[in-house]
Amino acid sequence: MTDRQKTNSTPRSRSRQAAETPDLSSVLSAKVVGQPNVISSIVPYVEMFQAGLAPENRPVGVFLLLGPTGTGKTRTVEALAEVLHGSSRNLLKIDCGEFQMEHEVAKLIGAPPGYLGHRETQPMLSQQKLTAVTSERSSLSLVLFDEIEKAAPSLTRLLLGVLDRGVLRLGDNSSVNFEKSLVFLTSNLGAKEMMREINPDFGFQSATSGAAKEDVSQKLQSIALSAVRRKFSPEFVNRIDHVITYQPLDAEAFAAITDHEIDNLQNHVNTRLGIRCFAVEVPFPTRQWLIERGTSPEYGARELKRTIHKHLTQPLATMVAKNQVEPGARVRVEVAKNGESLVLRATENGEAVAPSHPTVLLVDDNRDLLQFLERLMAEAGWELLAAESAGEALKIVSKRKPNAALLDYMLPDGNGVDLAQRLQRIVPNLPVIMMTGTMLGAEEEAICEEHDFPVLRKPFLATDVMNQIRARISARAQNGR
Ligand SMILES: Nc1ncnc2c1ncn2[C@@H]1O[C@H](COP(=O)(O)OP(=O)(O)OP(=O)(O)O)[C@@H](O)[C@H]1O
Ligand SMILES: [Mg+2]
Repeated sequence: MTDRQKTNSTPRSRSRQAAETPDLSSVLSAKVVGQPNVISSIVPYVEMFQAGLAPENRPVGVFLLLGPTGTGKTRTVEALAEVLHGSSRNLLKIDCGEFQMEHEVAKLIGAPPGYLGHRETQPMLSQQKLTAVTSERSSLSLVLFDEIEKAAPSLTRLLLGVLDRGVLRLGDNSSVNFEKSLVFLTSNLGAKEMMREINPDFGFQSATSGAAKEDVSQKLQSIALSAVRRKFSPEFVNRIDHVITYQPLDAEAFAAITDHEIDNLQNHVNTRLGIRCFAVEVPFPTRQWLIERGTSPEYGARELKRTIHKHLTQPLATMVAKNQVEPGARVRVEVAKNGESLVLRATENGEAVAPSHPTVLLVDDNRDLLQFLERLMAEAGWELLAAESAGEALKIVSKRKPNAALLDYMLPDGNGVDLAQRLQRIVPNLPVIMMTGTMLGAEEEAICEEHDFPVLRKPFLATDVMNQIRARISARAQNGR
């Protein structure tokens, strides 16, 4: 058995990794919207690594990501880092624009001994840097060479060695091993030509039928491939496992990305402000307004985050700083009458319909946790209905109607996701929060997503649970108004 197989294929590490990345494809698709081909191209390489079957003497996988701007190329690698390592920062990103001149390439690999100042030039690519972006969860490093077409030719030559043998030789003659790395190259090659292809006058905006979309996507693919062949040598192109062309995003994808960003903002408010958190209410016309300003065929979703930041996050922060939002209140965001800006209006705490001392159903067979939360909630004036099984919970709910339910996924007589759906048949719109010590299966994840059951992974802070419950109850109360 080789070293590589030894490190990756012990049954323990295999089952650990499998448990932690239950269904990579579905988790990634929620983060990278509208690019199914991208996910189906990349995921098998990650799985191959997790199974200990990645080939030797080369990186685990090498991908060239092409396509129009703002369609998720960089986001894909960040999302993979989030899923594999828990943070988008676990990613070694080389901005190739910084290596346009031959002498700048030394920054990447360090200067050879004998050169003045060689000791001060720490290589940007080193074995430590590769290891630093791995995590306890996975030993796979993600390396991103962004805008590869901008790099000096010597960088492409260095890369050829990496793609070919999985090794990079540094200035001091030591070497960096890429056998446990996925290498992503992104490029704007062919982007101008693609833009002409997706110009709104005759492009994808009018291409609503599946066949027309398919046609645009094939044209983009062939534009991308011929641009790549013009720029890079055949040896280089042959060592790339997949050349992936991103598709222009459609209205549905823009809407999903917008919803996702607004959910992130709400989560941020909940976790950062703790008991002072409040609900942000963004109705459909406001979402449409943000989409119109933040997205375009030319720039994809690139401006969306900035638009949300400018028109939503910043004004919200100002309101908080000026003490204009009561804890537990809600802030409704509407388009101004002239259609030019957004208006944020905070309701008084008293205006919120949400009960200030809610009754919460807690179902878990962990007695210690039950008792701990019971004490904490009682201190806050909340009432707790505790059950240790699904059967017991259903009995309680037939007599008392809670304002929210906190359910453990693993129950002695079933699972929390099933129970949640049964409870909602008895108490329609009951806000439900799932707790779990393991990852949910793909099907359960999908049900939670569909029914909007947030999933809290154990261990968690008691204040986080209470904030989640508070935010859910007040959001539900407002929607029901
Ligand atoms: N498919 C997508 N799914 C989710 N978010 C996306 C997607 N595409 C773009 N975004 C949003 O737009 C932002 C910009 O996307 P990203 O940086 O991935 O663009 P890119 O394709 O790398 O473009 P460029 O060629 O200009 O570098 C992301 O941070 C994300 O908020
Ligand atoms: Mg990018």
